Order: sequence, then structure tokens, then C-alpha cells
Amino acid sequence: MLILGIESSCDDIGVAVFDTATQKILGNTLLSQIKPHEMFGGIVPEIASRAQLEKIDVVIQQTLTKANLSLEQIDTIAVTNRPGLVGSLLVGVCFAKGIAWAQNKKIIGINHLEGHVFSAFLTSDHSVNQDLKFPFIALSASGGHTALHMVKDFGEYELIGQTLDDAAGEAFDKVAKMMGMPYPGGALIEKLASQVDFQDFFSYPRSKSTGDEISFSFSGLKTAVLYDLVKKGMYDLATGPVTDNITLELRQQVSSSLLVCVGDIFCKKIKQAFKKYPEIKSIAFVGGVACNAYLRNRLTQLCHNHGKTFFAAPPAFCTDNGGMIAFVGGYKATQGKFSDLNLDVMKE
Ligand code: KG4
Ligand code: ZN
Repeated sequence: MLILGIESSCDDIGVAVFDTATQKILGNTLLSQIKPHEMFGGIVPEIASRAQLEKIDVVIQQTLTKANLSLEQIDTIAVTNRPGLVGSLLVGVCFAKGIAWAQNKKIIGINHLEGHVFSAFLTSDHSVNQDLKFPFIALSASGGHTALHMVKDFGEYELIGQTLDDAAGEAFDKVAKMMGMPYPGGALIEKLASQVDFQDFFSYPRSKSTGDEISFSFSGLKTAVLYDLVKKGMYDLATGPVTDNITLELRQQVSSSLLVCVGDIFCKKIKQAFKKYPEIKSIAFVGGVACNAYLRNRLTQLCHNHGKTFFAAPPAFCTDNGGMIAFVGGYKATQGKFSDLNLDVMKE
């Protein structure tokens, strides 16, 4: 079966084909549309969906051309229908339903988070990693989510911990914005931190553990950084970033301290998970924040010290992408779990 995966839950459009026979991702294409949002310091939903509407047909055609396939050869359309920005989700779902109806194809609505969780199986040569065995724990960290899932089988996963407030990626994006840097901030924060060798200059607060429960919290950290920036004269609560006082050195030190702090929080939570679920042999790190090489190294080291195996998808499959949606669509189609043309979008 050939599955066309469409992802449009936020600002990007990701499209790919998954071939269930060869277990390969074909023609993976991502149209990232950050530019029009940069001046607003975050995603503007109306701009995102309008831009997606203008380009979705082109991205699908490009993907099919790269994969050397025609639309007629596709068996099933898998499309992200939740959670996300409603306008953006609607672009993908309406387009998918249109194709499915016009060409008499099957359709499957995919949960974006399930896509991220199972992206752990995708490799840089676009095949499926056979070394990752169930059960494993997936740490999903992106601009919208920070969650731990116990993954028991394809499509069978359970939430075992999540953020009580902000997502990890959001902490990077918001601190970047406070320092007058463009959206999204994660990659730039990592670059600045690497320039000062990932030292911890300011000892920002690590979230406190709440008993046996595994939960994350990044809102307090974000506020602590905000007040530190105010103290350093880099930020004015009334007017925003004080450009004249924001030096490269301070940006590097704040970025590095923030990243080390997030690294410590992740390691602490994963250690807690090792203790609570000793039967788990592997950890998979997924979502946009999993592009971060420093955090990957920290978690690799932690897994090594505890006799566990660490997995992460290549960066192209960490950030939002059509490959993960096509892949999840592949096993759902194999399991006969199709949606019908009443498929709707869901915000949560
Ligand atoms: O998965 P994703 O593309 O979209 C969401 O579903 O949110 O993740 C985007 C997030 C942004 O918050 C971005 O700052 C973060 O991933 N990110 C990073 C890095 N690259 C992207 N965070 C830390 N380090 C990076 N290298
Ligand atoms: Zn995502």
C-alpha cells in the first residue's frame, strides 16, 4: 500500500509517501513558512492557514514527483486532524477529503502527537529502524507539547507524564523573543549556548518533583529568566527587549544557562521514569526540540549510564513532517483503521 501523509497542524506543510511493502518513506517534502511570522515573534494562525491554502497542492505534487508516483497510484490519504491550529488543520483535512472523494481513496485522520511518538522509527535513509523494540518510553518535546508516553505497540501508547503549563520548545521560543531574537528560538539558543561550551552561568530554577508523578513545568523557568533579564537591564516589562543592553555575551550566557537547565530537567524526569518503569529498555526523543544535539548528548549519556538504549529520529523527522504522518497512516491502514469522509478537525 502507498500512503500519502499530509501534515498541516501549525505553520508548515509536510507531505510524504510511505510504502508499506518496502517500509520506506518516499518524496518527503517540507514547506516551512517562518518568514511572514518572524516580525510577530510567533505564529499568526490566519497567516499560517492562508499560506498553506495557497501552497498545499504544489507541495503534494512536488512530493509525488520526487517519489516518482502519480496520485492514481496512492491507496490511502493520511492527514493530521488533531491537535493543532483549527484553520491550519482544516486546510490539510479538506484537501485530503477532496482527493479521497474525487479519486475514491481511503482516508485516515492522524493524531499529530502519535505522529511524533512513532517518528522515532524513521531513519536518515528514510527506512524503518528495526532496532527499536516495544515497550519504550517516548519523550516528545516541541513548541506545543512536552510529554512522556509508554509505547507498547504500533498505535498503542499511553500518556505517563506531561507538562503542567508551557512546552519545552515554548520556553526556548519565549526566551529568544525576550532577548529580541526571531521565532522559533530553539536552534539559535543552541547555537549561542555552544559558543560558550554549554556552561551554566545563572543557575535558573529546576522544577521541583511532585512525588511519584512525572510532570514537567517550564512556566516558572520562563518567568525566572524574564526577571533575570529585567535585572540585567535587557528587558523592560513595559516596552520589551532593551536592544542597547543586549550584548552577544549576555545572549550566549542566558541561552547556555537555559539549555543546561532544560537538559537537567529532562535528565531528572527520565531518571524518574527509569525508576518507575524498570522494564523499559529504551528511550526515544522526538519532536522539534529533539533536533537539539546538546540535549541528545545529555540523554544518550544518561541512557548509557543506566544500561538503556537511546533513539532519536534524524532532525528532518523531529520537527513537523509528513513522513511521520504517512508512517502512522501505514500501520493504521494495515490494521484496517480507516476514517470516513465525515472526518473533522479537533483543536485538542
Ligand atoms: O515539532 P515542531 O516542529 O512543531 C511543534 O509541533 O511545535 O517543534 C518546533 C519547536 C520550536 O519550539 C523550536 O524552537 C524547537 O522545536 N526547536 C528546537 C531546536 N530546533 C527546533 N529547540 C531546541 N533546540 C533546537 N535545535
Ligand atoms: Zn509537532
